Amino acid sequence: MTSAFKATPVFKKPRSTSNLVRPNKALFKEVFFESEDIINTFKNKFSELHGTKYCIPVVNGLWAIVIAINELKINGRSEVIMPSLTYRRMADIAAWLGLTPRFCDIDSKTFSVQKENIEKCINEQTAIIIAPHAIVNTCDVQGIEELCREKKIPLIFDSIESYYAEINNKKIGGFGDVECFSLHASKFINGFEGGYITTNNYRIAEKLAVYSNGGVIKSNKIAECGLKLDLPEYHAALAISCLEGLDEQLKHNKEIYKTYKERLANISGLRLIEYSEEEKRTYKNILIEIKQNFPIKRDVLIDLLHSNNILSRPYYYPPLHEMKRDYLVAYDSLPNTTYWRDRLILMPSGYFVTKNDVIKITDLLNSILKKNENEKSKRN
Ligand SMILES: Cc1ncc(COP(=O)(O)O)c(C=O)c1O
Repeated sequence: MTSAFKATPVFKKPRSTSNLVRPNKALFKEVFFESEDIINTFKNKFSELHGTKYCIPVVNGLWAIVIAINELKINGRSEVIMPSLTYRRMADIAAWLGLTPRFCDIDSKTFSVQKENIEKCINEQTAIIIAPHAIVNTCDVQGIEELCREKKIPLIFDSIESYYAEINNKKIGGFGDVECFSLHASKFINGFEGGYITTNNYRIAEKLAVYSNGGVIKSNKIAECGLKLDLPEYHAALAISCLEGLDEQLKHNKEIYKTYKERLANISGLRLIEYSEEEKRTYKNILIEIKQNFPIKRDVLIDLLHSNNILSRPYYYPPLHEMKRDYLVAYDSLPNTTYWRDRLILMPSGYFVTKNDVIKITDLLNSILKKNENEKSKRN
């Protein structure tokens, strides 16, 4: 079945699922060489982007989450609630901090966590909750916030995939106790590495800023603990230089998304996971369900696409509760996670993917399907 697709790949240069947006060169030069204080400019611009009072720049998204948990967790308790279908290093973060990850299920419509998913996992050991927005739509922000307020449990939103989104007309950034973001090249805003935390809470912002700056309070005053985790100026300048192009990027992403939507509607067995039209979204990620009637298994399809330089990948695979590890984890049954683990793939998208690329990709999907049908009818 694969041989026909090996001869000449559809693309010479790989098309990936990473955004890889290039910053505005002139703006980068201006910010990097002429700003008096790049980091302060970064803090102001990114607080403004999210409508929050404070922004704490850090080296990357992973460390943003580590220091946020470390600062906010209820001391004396041992568990961190997080979904199993999420960023592959999330459980390691909890373990690294000496805590036990407790995995919750996801909602089958949004692939994110809802209040009910989390509520089932809360117990007397719950130290903190991490609610990541899924790759396409956002999680049940209002429900989870209410639950955390009622139970008095700290709440972190991992908003790394939802930069530019709005919920009830309020920008992402100011929900929960803090929200964490990444500036990795694969993300909507490209600092070629980096991350930051947003909050409206002065006390939390101060503590995180001191901790991530080597514990320096003033030149002659040092906090008990701290790590050197600040965002390098070069990456801050690259991220700032991306900001002007966000609306243009959104327009491009939406065109790519619409083309996938139109073309996939004609391929039986594949379903585009749609963005909510009600609120602002980045349209950066293209997620597809491989339905039961699609005759090719997810991993076989991915191999076929890869042999054509189409770098699709499974959606957060394997789920965290199935990964082998040498530390303790906790979970009960996770039916939705188990159902979706083999059925979702991410397709190429972002800055370098054109409408024409999407036409070629969907043509290939169609021909893979047709070839499979022909082979089947010959066999019968
Ligand atoms: C949902 C999510 N959280 C956290 C991270 C970590 O961010 P970073 O790569 O900047 O460390 C990622 C990275 O891909 C992610 O997708």
